[in-house]
Amino acid sequence: MKRALASVLFAGLLAAAGISHAADHSAIHDKMMKTGGPKPDERVELKLPGPMKAMQKRMMRQHLDTVSEIAAALGANDMGKAASIARGLGWTPEEEERCEAVGEMTGEPDFLSLGKAVHVTADELAASAEAGNRDKALMDLSRLIKSCNACHEKFRH
Ligand code: HEC
Repeated sequence: MKRALASVLFAGLLAAAGISHAADHSAIHDKMMKTGGPKPDERVELKLPGPMKAMQKRMMRQHLDTVSEIAAALGANDMGKAASIARGLGWTPEEEERCEAVGEMTGEPDFLSLGKAVHVTADELAASAEAGNRDKALMDLSRLIKSCNACHEKFRH
């Protein structure tokens, strides 16, 4: 019964998303059912006022842009540019204040440590780029992206 309900809900979701081609539908459906069907989002909800959430998401989209700009500078072998963009994402007293404030407002101290990990990794990336070590800078970039997602795995709005 539960499975049938999930199946109906899922078909509705696909239809709402404009996915109506029968073959696509059944392939996606089979794949989801194999992994146990749609699951609830069990991440920790950050209880913040709406405008703060909007601001936080705006900053997040900027972060994603920054990551893209670092990748482009590394691709162009412009290590000076990569270093200076990465430094801009580095750990500073202002950044600490921002992450700490969210941690305190939400009662989630992990927000500070997960946030710090991103900014400290950005500093490491900057140091690699300053040293002219592109291979290391790319590995740092990979770690940076993973540290972004470590927070996304834990928290949601
Ligand atoms: C300390 C926690 C934390 C860290 C670190 C973090 N994020 Fe986020 N991010 C969030 C939260 C919370 C949301 C909102 C998720 C939701 O909407 O449920 C979010 C959402 C986003 C979004 C979606 C924005 C939108 O408009 O909906 C993007 C893109 C994003 N983050 C990029 C990044 C990137 C890139 C990094 C690393 C450079 C990063 N984030 C690091 C917590 C974090």
